Amino acid sequence: MQESGKTQYICEEDIQRQLHICEEIKQRNEARREGTPLACIQTYGCQQNVADGQRLMGMLEACGFAFTEEAGRADLVVLNTCAIREHAEQRVFGNLGLLTHTKRERPEQIIVLCGCMAQEERTARRIRESYRHVDLVFGPQALWRFPELLRQVYETKKRVFSVEDEAGSIAEGLPVVRERGVKAWVSIMYGCNNFCSYCIVPYVRGRERSRDPEAVLAEVRQLVEAGYKDITLLGQNVNSYGNDLDSGYHFPDLLEDISRIPGDYWIRFMSSHPKDASPALFDAMARCGPVAKQLHLPFQSGNNRILREMNRRYTRESYLELIRYARSVMPGLVLTSDVIVGFPGETEEEFLDTVSLVEEVGFDALFTFIYSPRPGTRAASMPDPVPRAEKQRWFDRLLEVQNRHSAKIHAGYADRTVRVLADGESGDGDYPLSSRTEGNRLVRLKGDPSLIGRFLDVKITGSNTWALYGEPV
Ligand code: SAH
Ligand code: SF4
Ligand code: F3S
Repeated sequence: MQESGKTQYICEEDIQRQLHICEEIKQRNEARREGTPLACIQTYGCQQNVADGQRLMGMLEACGFAFTEEAGRADLVVLNTCAIREHAEQRVFGNLGLLTHTKRERPEQIIVLCGCMAQEERTARRIRESYRHVDLVFGPQALWRFPELLRQVYETKKRVFSVEDEAGSIAEGLPVVRERGVKAWVSIMYGCNNFCSYCIVPYVRGRERSRDPEAVLAEVRQLVEAGYKDITLLGQNVNSYGNDLDSGYHFPDLLEDISRIPGDYWIRFMSSHPKDASPALFDAMARCGPVAKQLHLPFQSGNNRILREMNRRYTRESYLELIRYARSVMPGLVLTSDVIVGFPGETEEEFLDTVSLVEEVGFDALFTFIYSPRPGTRAASMPDPVPRAEKQRWFDRLLEVQNRHSAKIHAGYADRTVRVLADGESGDGDYPLSSRTEGNRLVRLKGDPSLIGRFLDVKITGSNTWALYGEPV
């Protein structure tokens, strides 16, 4: 490993060794009598996990695998898991259960569990003891060693667990298979240092570490040249990008440098943390043409006591001030956020502060979650007296407020001409194309699939809570 500032980089030789192992596995696969082996990758959770899934695919492709969506046909099944809420974990255990059947029919099938759940001690223990059909378990920090771990499974025919607690490092140069189309995701940093009291991410994704700006710039340049037009920079808290590099280079600098890449494209980013979002960030967004005027800024709660208990390190007032400033330099900015309803000990009155913040800001869309205790986090041991049914009522109430507002904002688009990027088929016969505005609002379009991949001016002819409808002018 090499060190730069506080961040550890996996050295070129170690990456090359993994690529050699891919080549070795590929030769073995090519010699198989049964033909090309199939892999099935099921990814859960956030975009960061989706991006990891694309690297898993890249490594498997280098190992000579083709891909299938049907676990029953696959020689190798990978569950790339998420641990953010209990429901996400239950889905994975449900699917793991189903895989006992596929494995019974195909005893040679290899089952891999990776991603955030794999890094939780209690999950790893449960897999070890009760899900004996799982062959390989490794956490997000070990992703780059996947070829080596896979070879170990083939060679030893024993179960392999690589789930040690690791702060994590950065591995450049792993192969990646991207979805074809116009959208691409680029991780600019990994991990999280924030330890919001409800959240499992810092425990499973290791410490914050930023990729080298040159590596990020090269990747974005390559994507733009390859025709991608809607590129999202990813990190759990992109606003602290560069803090570990000790070079004085920060996220607004990265936005400025990326924006100098010639071409017609939008740059987005997520997520931002209000404690680190600054006027300098909003000024950079306003200045940089390719940076979409869209901001996902999770506030979680509108009540200061709850924010303190959550360890969020900003207040309702400072959040509102940020929004005011962002809107002053970017009129028409599209704003979205995440909210948690029913944090341990939250009273109805405190919840109503969240409702009033939502009303005051007027978000374009909101991602609302009922609090889910995550074993090992600080909030999981806090008294939580409010019954689930009551939290559900609060949740429904908040959703209703937001839905009414989203519908109103969408109705305001009527008869306007907006620029969109056609990004795929919608599956709706009357409006067969799907597209996105600069603010990432969904517009279903009349028009021909040949328009996919193009920026278009469209007239908005209708709307509902979730989408706009339009036709090219
Ligand atoms: N790093 C991002 C969030 C990643 S998790 C950020 O800080 O904005 C995405 C969202 O899931 C969070 O914003 C939060 O609203 C929600 N979330 C996280 N942990 C949760 C939990 N234990 N219960 C319910 N929702 C949770
Ligand atoms: Fe979780 Fe907070 Fe880190 Fe986001 S910033 S990943 S909510 S600990
Ligand atoms: Fe889930 Fe891990 Fe993302 S817990 S939300 S997949 S960082």
